[in-house]
Amino acid sequence: MEFAGSHILSVGQFERADVESVFEVADAMQPYARRRKVTRVLEGAILGSMFFEPSTRTRVSFGSAFNLLGGEVRETTGIENSAIAKGESLYDTARVLSGYSDVVAMRHPEVGSVAEFAAASRVPVINGGDGSNEHPTQALLDLYTIRSELSAQGRGIDALRIAMVGDLRFGRTVHSLCKLLCLFDRVSVTLVSPDELRMPQEIVESLRQAGHVVVQSDAMEEGIAHVDIVYSTRLQEERFASPEEANLYRGRFRLNQQTYTRHCDPNTVIMHPLPRDSREAARELDDDLNENPNLAIFRQTDNGVLVRMALFALVLDVVDQVDVHARDV
Ligand code: CP
Repeated sequence: MEFAGSHILSVGQFERADVESVFEVADAMQPYARRRKVTRVLEGAILGSMFFEPSTRTRVSFGSAFNLLGGEVRETTGIENSAIAKGESLYDTARVLSGYSDVVAMRHPEVGSVAEFAAASRVPVINGGDGSNEHPTQALLDLYTIRSELSAQGRGIDALRIAMVGDLRFGRTVHSLCKLLCLFDRVSVTLVSPDELRMPQEIVESLRQAGHVVVQSDAMEEGIAHVDIVYSTRLQEERFASPEEANLYRGRFRLNQQTYTRHCDPNTVIMHPLPRDSREAARELDDDLNENPNLAIFRQTDNGVLVRMALFALVLDVVDQVDVHARDV
C-alpha cells in the first residue's frame, strides 16, 4: 500500500509486506523512543487527537509518539467536550478539525464512525478504535510484540499457536489481530469464550480461508495448553445491553499464576491489550502474574509508542528524514 497521505482505518488495508514495513520502521524508532537520540522531524506539525471514548494508553501513546518525532498534540476528549454534543455532524467536525491538524488520531464508540470522519477529512486519519469493530494500531503493536517475543525464542510469526480468551464478540483488538494473522502462514488459533461471546463468524471464516486451524471452545484450561501466546481480553461491558447481562460472564475466564503453571508450557507468553479489570469478581488476568517474566503486557504498551511513531512517519512521509533531523542525547 501507499502509506503517504493514507488513512489507517482497518487492518484489511495491509498486505504482509506493509506490516513488515511498519515493523522495520518501528525497529528504527527504538533509539528515539528510549531517548538515546532526539529528532525534530515533525517540528511544526500538529496531531489532532480526538478520543470520544475512554482511553489511557492509545490516546497517550499516540501523543507521546508524535511528541517524540518533534510534533505537537491538540487533544479533544469526550463527546461532551466537543460541539458534537450540540448536534454537530462528524462531517462538519472533520472539515473543521482537519484544517487545524496535519494528521488525526480518533476513537469513537460507533462502528464505522472513524471511516465516516476520514471521508470528510483533509488530512490522514488513524483509527484508534471504532466501537466493537476494529483497533488497527493495537493489532499492529500486538503482532509486533508477538514477533519480538518469539524472536527471543528463535521463532517467527509463521506457525504461531495462539489462544485468544474472553469476550471475543465485542473485543475489537482480537478482531483486528485475527485479520492480520490471515496474512501469515500455518497459524493455529484457539478461541476460548462463552458461546454467546464467540468471535464473529466472518472472522473465523477468514482465518480458515487463510489455511489456519481454528478451534472454538469454552474450556480455558485446555485452550491455553501448548500455545506460544495466551491473549486474554477484558469483558467489554460497555457494549452489553445492561450490567446485569455483563454479570453473567464476569470473571468466567481468570488466568492466574497457578492456572498458568498447571496448564501452560513454560515459555508461553501472556498478552492482554489492557486495561485489565482489577475488580475482584471481574478479574481476567491476576496481579500474581506480575512477576512472571512471560507476562508481556507492559512490553506491549511500550511497543505501542514505536508502532505509532512508525505509522506517523510513514503516513506523513518522513521516514527518510528522521535521522537527518536527529542528534544524539
Ligand atoms: N488497549 C487500549 O486500547 O487501551 P486504552 O483503552 O487505554 O486506549
